[in-house]
Amino acid sequence: MAKLIGGLGTSHVPSIAAALDKGLRHSDEWKPFFDGYVPAQEWVAAQKPDIAVVIFNDHGNAFFLDRVPTLALGVADSYAPIDEGWGPRAVPDFVGAADFAWHLADQMVERHFDPLICRELDVDHGLQVPMELVFGRPEVWPVKVVPILVNTIQYPIPTPQRMWDLGRTLRHAIESWPGDERVLVMGTGGLSHQLQGARAGYINPDEDRRWIADIGPAPQRYRDMSREDYVEVFGSEGAELIMWLVMRGCMDEKVNTLHRHYFAPASMTGAGMVLLENA
Ligand code: DHB
Ligand code: FE
Repeated sequence: MAKLIGGLGTSHVPSIAAALDKGLRHSDEWKPFFDGYVPAQEWVAAQKPDIAVVIFNDHGNAFFLDRVPTLALGVADSYAPIDEGWGPRAVPDFVGAADFAWHLADQMVERHFDPLICRELDVDHGLQVPMELVFGRPEVWPVKVVPILVNTIQYPIPTPQRMWDLGRTLRHAIESWPGDERVLVMGTGGLSHQLQGARAGYINPDEDRRWIADIGPAPQRYRDMSREDYVEVFGSEGAELIMWLVMRGCMDEKVNTLHRHYFAPASMTGAGMVLLENA
């Protein structure tokens, strides 16, 4: 059976990638943000995962608003990073874990989650940025990836409780895979931000800090919140945080929060991460 080694939640703000592209990793502005990820990077490297299951949303790059799947899953052998308008990025293609991904697809359908199954998929900053934050900028990625996409950009988005239940299903799927791969689950997006409408520029650092502190030990409040609560508290794009619930739902009830980090604002966004292991 494959082994779930831990769960990591992280922002995927595109300006993080832009900062790396421009060589600003150690600039006064960005150093405190990137430094906060180092302990988690070291923990993950020591754990030697084989596969990262990355829960993220596409932002109109792989799917446009004319066709938005509520849930999608990649079963490809590789995924190219999308150029989002600033030119091709110096990050290698992501290598897929196709057999394992087909098993996840099978187990999702068995348990009544019916994803769009993608044999071909390019991936935007929603996956690129978390991979760079965790694994740096290697010539070859040290893990294979399974991309799982959640619609968080066009209403109706799925409910928080449904995302938790998807996490339970993924846990079962991971542990019913006959291989001995070590699996890291990453939930991405957030933290608070709103990029549009009357509240454009809204962030909520107090609620972000509470999220970072509580998502490990006390996630019930976040399962109980409605989709509208997420928009109100975290902003319309901050509702991406429902994807961290997939990661949290994969984990045991009792977890240890190994590392946490918060930084605001990154671009117009509260940004940060949390790393959990089963207690
Ligand atoms: C921005 C975009 C995102 O997808 C996100 O999660 C946070 C911030 C942005 O464009 O600033
Ligand atoms: Fe986003």
